[in-house]
Parts: sequence; C-alpha cells; structure tokens
Amino acid sequence: MNILENDVERILISKEQIEEIEDRMAAQISEDYKDKNLLLLCILKGSVVFFSDLMRKITLPMQIDFMKVSSYGKGSQSTGNVRILLDLHREDFSEVDVLIVEDIIDSGRTLSTLVEYLKMKGCRSVKTCTLLDKPSRREVEFIPDYAGQIIPDEFVIGFGLDYAEKYRELPYVGILKPSVYTK
Ligand code: IMP
Ligand code: MG
Repeated sequence: MNILENDVERILISKEQIEEIEDRMAAQISEDYKDKNLLLLCILKGSVVFFSDLMRKITLPMQIDFMKVSSYGKGSQSTGNVRILLDLHREDFSEVDVLIVEDIIDSGRTLSTLVEYLKMKGCRSVKTCTLLDKPSRREVEFIPDYAGQIIPDEFVIGFGLDYAEKYRELPYVGILKPSVYTK
C-alpha cells in the first residue's frame, strides 16, 4: 500500500469507474469531432492523467498541446486569480477546434477565463471537457460541454489531482481527510 493512502478518507471514484467514464466520454467526443480538426489541450498539471487516457481512447486523428495555468495557492481554497504560466503558440489558430481537458471544475474561473482567451486568439471552436465537476461551488456561471462525473463539495485528490503537490499518482479519486489540511 502507498503510504499516501493513509490520508485518504475514502475512495470516491474507483479506477474501474473512471475507466467507464472515460470510455463513455471518448466515444461521444469521437462522434462529435468526426468532421473537425481536433486539438486536445491538456491543462497542466492536474489533468495529465485523464488527458493521457482520453487521447488514447478517442478514435480520431488529433493534435495535442499543453497549457499551464494557476488559480490556486497552497491550500484548498481557490484565489480566483487565473495566471497563464505556459501559453499556447501556433501560427494559425483559426484552423483548430480546441477541446480543453480539465481535471475538475470548482469556481469555474479557470475554464471561463481560458475559453475567452482561446476564442480571442481566434480558434475555430473552443469546448471543454472535465473529468469531475463540483457545480455547487461555482462563483461564475460555467457549464462544461463534457463532464465525467458530478461530485459533492469535498476536496478530492488522486488521478492527477493534488493537495499541495501531493497525491497526484494515486490511481483513483479519493476524498482527502480534512485533518490533512486543517492541521
Ligand atoms: P476553478 O477555477 O475554481 O474552477 O478551479 C479549477 C482548479 O482548481 C482545478 O484545475 C484544480 O487544480 C483545482 N481544484 C478544485 N477543486 C479541487 C479539489 O477538490 N482537489 C484538487 N484540486 C482542486
Ligand atoms: Mg488544475
């Protein structure tokens, strides 16, 4: 057993359940993007695990790229400040249909800012795909185009998601023991 698992209150979504969610989402995306020019965009670092599964499950030609944004300080509360730490560079944005891949939507600030930003750059279309969604936490109105699973207002870790840069490597989505971030 990984020592990190001592900090997990319980498993919220098992790796088998995640696999089913991914299969369903990839099938839908493969259908919807048949006649498009898909650019699958990974938002570092949290979505890297979900992204790498999704890119192998979507049955269409695609390009991939990466952006890194930061909306979080050290703790478990969003600051609402979205900074671009790694930007997208291309000659021509007007030829791509961007699908942004996120791990989780919380306040909605990261994705609503990114969608506006990529539209401003001139992308032909910009849509969003998230593994997890916490709609009860929204501070700005935002509805993703593809959402894997709606979850309650709990702080979750694993499958790419971190708390203070830890737990990303756990193979499932788990609820973090509150004692970890209240001590
Ligand atoms: P938003 O801008 O508030 O929607 O925040 C989205 C980002 O917050 C995600 O990409 C995560 O990095 C982070 N985040 C939100 N909720 C959680 C959580 O429960 N666990 C880990 N990271 C989270
Ligand atoms: Mg993130």
